[in-house]
Amino acid sequence: MAKKIIDDPSRTLMEYRLLPGLTKKKQSPENISLRTPLVYSEKNEKKYFLNIPLVSAAMQSVSGAEMGIELAKLGGAAFIFCSQSIAAQAKMIRKIKMHKAGFVKPKTVLPNMSIQKMFEIRKETGYSTFPVIDEKGLFVGLISKWDYDISLHAKALVKNRMIPKKDIEFGTNIEDLKEANRLLLESHKSVLPILDKQGKLSSMVFRKDINDLLNFPLEIHDKKKRLIAVAAVNTHDFKKRIPALLQENVDVISIDSSDGFTEYQKDVITWSNHHFPELPVIGGNIINKEGFRFLVEAGVKAVKVGMGGGSICITQEQKGTGRGLATTIIKVSEERDKYFSETGIYIPLIADGGVTSTKDVTVALALGADYVMMGRYFARMEESPTDKVVVNNRVMKPYWGEGSARAQKWKEKRYNQAKFVEGVEGMVEYAGRLRDNLEETLAKIKAAMRTCGVTNITELHQQAVLEIVSALSIREGKPHDIYLGTENHEQEHHETTK
Ligand code: IMP
Repeated sequence: MAKKIIDDPSRTLMEYRLLPGLTKKKQSPENISLRTPLVYSEKNEKKYFLNIPLVSAAMQSVSGAEMGIELAKLGGAAFIFCSQSIAAQAKMIRKIKMHKAGFVKPKTVLPNMSIQKMFEIRKETGYSTFPVIDEKGLFVGLISKWDYDISLHAKALVKNRMIPKKDIEFGTNIEDLKEANRLLLESHKSVLPILDKQGKLSSMVFRKDINDLLNFPLEIHDKKKRLIAVAAVNTHDFKKRIPALLQENVDVISIDSSDGFTEYQKDVITWSNHHFPELPVIGGNIINKEGFRFLVEAGVKAVKVGMGGGSICITQEQKGTGRGLATTIIKVSEERDKYFSETGIYIPLIADGGVTSTKDVTVALALGADYVMMGRYFARMEESPTDKVVVNNRVMKPYWGEGSARAQKWKEKRYNQAKFVEGVEGMVEYAGRLRDNLEETLAKIKAAMRTCGVTNITELHQQAVLEIVSALSIREGKPHDIYLGTENHEQEHHETTK
């Protein structure tokens, strides 16, 4: 006989609905905050907070560098997938961290370099403006594409075509982007070199980037104004992968595993915390309180919960393991709150797998999750790493599970190949730009929070009242008893998508 048999069925997110609380007049959408901790941070460091409660899943068809950049700009984070070589993943992290968000460390050229040589660097890097630095490292001028014509000046030297320092507006010792912006606006120029007191170049600020920054008020960055980067790691090559990712200034790592309640996972956490105590580690996935205790006692700073619910997941069918995500969140957040009252340490919970619509996000947050991880939602966006295809006159993007045969190919010959798959490969309907989709999703989350009478996620945890719905009331919640014409099928599809 089994050690324990639980007779109550486990529940999914779609089985719950929120009941209203009193909505106060001050609870306008602008006054509702979606800020939430990415990981537990003793010093409350700003970069360890998300401004929106959404992250993209560590999957080949979801989270590459482009998603990492756009999502961090919009207040969330992409978990860059680890089912690729260490070098390829490190390159993605580098791309995110080097993204020009404010102060840029530019590629420089020497005064005695020929224009031809500089032109080659321009072609190689794609940059059109270069600061000119002498042998002592002092800033002596700027050269941009307007200062030469390659057909005429190829043999000339940079110093003969550059704009010299005396004719350039620059800032000295500026660390505040707003101050840099003020100077740029006054200068009428498109670029502002920032020098240190000795006259050496510290960085450059481009007007285009500042405009970008002002358009992204929720952006998450580190103290050096670089975008935040989160990377998944596996339990096989972590001793090589983590140092390589750190070399590129990764901010947080997340162990990618369908079952996080394992000694392998503990090995990664112990090793990483020992060698890199400043680097927060996210663990998971777990689905019960024992798994939660195991991971936090091993030293994780956030925990992913969920097993068997992902849209591409066949784990439940293949192995008979898993749990409805709602029940998982309820059980684990109970234990998380207990752990908090015992230790004062608040471990964020990430609801992962099967969060398909905005209403699922709100229910997951209300039940106790601090943010949600989604694969399918983000796979549909322009910024996911896949190419669009047209199927039956519909624009689609491919989406496949990390446990599918397609995703497993990268590790052939590297590790023991699994004898069976835990994921499938399919298509999702292309949805357009991330920022447009997020706008609607976030508006709906805020509207639900207003209905509940709360202004932030902590209040939602404390005050939400939820109720299980019957199958009939789910039916009643959709359009019924009216004629929807030929759009009927489309409408149903649309609803699960949004
Ligand atoms: P979705 O948001 O419902 O598409 O689920 C995405 C989540 O499914 C990921 O964050 C993983 O936790 C999980 N997942 C990814 N690939 C697989 C797989 O091949 N099998 C089972 N679960 C998977």
